[in-house]
Amino acid sequence: MLLTNISQLYQVASEGELYKSGLGMQDASLLEDAYLLVENGTITAMGHMNSLSADAWPQAQRIDCSGRIVMPGFVDSHTHLVFPKTREQEYVYRIQGISYEEIARRGGGILNSAKAAQEIPESQLLEETIGRAEEILKLGTTTVEIKSGYGLTYESELKLLRVANELKKHVPLNIKTTFLGAHAIPTSWKGNRKGYIDLVCDKMLPKIVEEGLADFIDVFCDEGFFTVEETEYILRKGQEYGLPGKIHANELAFSGGVQVGVKCGAYSVDHLERSGDAEIAALQGSDTVPCLLPSVPYFLGIDYGPARDMIAAGLPVALATDYNPGSSPGGSMSFVMSLACTKMKMLPEEALVASTLNGAWALRMSDTVGSLEVGKQADLLITKPLASLARIPYSFSSNLIDRVVIRGKEV
Ligand code: NIG
Ligand code: FE
Repeated sequence: MLLTNISQLYQVASEGELYKSGLGMQDASLLEDAYLLVENGTITAMGHMNSLSADAWPQAQRIDCSGRIVMPGFVDSHTHLVFPKTREQEYVYRIQGISYEEIARRGGGILNSAKAAQEIPESQLLEETIGRAEEILKLGTTTVEIKSGYGLTYESELKLLRVANELKKHVPLNIKTTFLGAHAIPTSWKGNRKGYIDLVCDKMLPKIVEEGLADFIDVFCDEGFFTVEETEYILRKGQEYGLPGKIHANELAFSGGVQVGVKCGAYSVDHLERSGDAEIAALQGSDTVPCLLPSVPYFLGIDYGPARDMIAAGLPVALATDYNPGSSPGGSMSFVMSLACTKMKMLPEEALVASTLNGAWALRMSDTVGSLEVGKQADLLITKPLASLARIPYSFSSNLIDRVVIRGKEV
């Protein structure tokens, strides 16, 4: 495959950078009037059109990209793509003024999804998940992380992770999976938190690792969910089993989640709507990625995370959708970029870096995906004709992604 006459080729990284941080995120490694060659699923050459001879690679499938942008496929590093049903009734409750926390206390929220997840047959869950995966592919996501966490029983958590892994056979997405048994304390364990945590750590975790069902471990470290001490305990157990942490932190309160994530060497701490100087200071000098999920504050009507302060502090901010039925029922990375720009004042280039390279770094995959460089996997997007990158966040309800290529194959 030879892409020619690319108006704007956003490589995102051009010197093997595994992430970009701080104001460095404003440089999305733009090459104008470019070509790009893909062989056997890998990028093997690229450069200016004037260095491409007319008879080069005559056997390649040529795609004329005049007037278009070519950029890396989106890396959505935080989703709950495997879930049983939508929860629009809770959405209506929130419109009427009942908060997310109050709905959760009344047995809605995560526990509502967990009940449905326990009841749904695995085959149906897979079918519904395939539908959502096909939807996000069309929106330009080429790599996705998928969490369990709506099971909350031994059987059900395994079921969700089996579906997430089975999905790999049905769609060409690059998929990483995360065990989130510690998403909420199920109703039946309300009087015995330690009992449930032991079930997560001593029964579910060993089985999941034995079956190779997860790459990472997650905990919802927030007010009303898991404490800092519980989070550290679970993350350390995960580490013993070889699963690095990627945690939910500081969505609802200044929970200490960011600090404990950094302390335990988590690859990322995600949400961070409730973050200030102490959280940013904890992240500085660490290898933990702050991953912002702006469709959550959009949908729940809460404050956005302090993206500009994080960038000013030199952090490698990532962006993801958090696609889930409770707090973000959508998987559009273009919309996430739009919210990042409009609501958190990130520049379009910063939002692109955060949605590709830095998302890949949050999964420790940026040596292969998240940027367009020679030797990298050919996961790329060809946009509809458009004059500038800013059109993507600007046209917030349009899908401007025309063609999606994963490992060199158009999907
Ligand atoms: O990432 N915050 C915790 N978990 C999910 C939402 C869970 C739900 O409401 O179903 C999230 O926002
Ligand atoms: Fe989440």
